[in-house]
Amino acid sequence: MDQSFRITETHSGTSFSCSAEQTVLAAMEQQQQRCVPVGCRGGGCGQCKVQVLSGEYDCGRMSSRHVDAAAQASGQALACRLFPRSDLAIERLVAAGAAR
Ligand code: FES
Repeated sequence: MDQSFRITETHSGTSFSCSAEQTVLAAMEQQQQRCVPVGCRGGGCGQCKVQVLSGEYDCGRMSSRHVDAAAQASGQALACRLFPRSDLAIERLVAAGAAR
């Protein structure tokens, strides 16, 4: 079963759909949205870091350099490692176009 959820990025007011099997970043790119900066797409660079404001989610492996245990506990996550389990409200934490 492929469930689909609505992801809303509150900073830009952008929303897009994302299936439970897809990362939030991949879904965003697939729908030509740019509300979260895209970097390595592999959980290593921290560009796609977001704060999850509401909703249920699972995370794949993330670099603790960018999201340590305390940050994870407070709802921070890397969008390229973020799988929605309900509709999500997120806020990007790295400004678009920020230097690496
Ligand atoms: S794009 Fe590099 S950590 Fe997500």
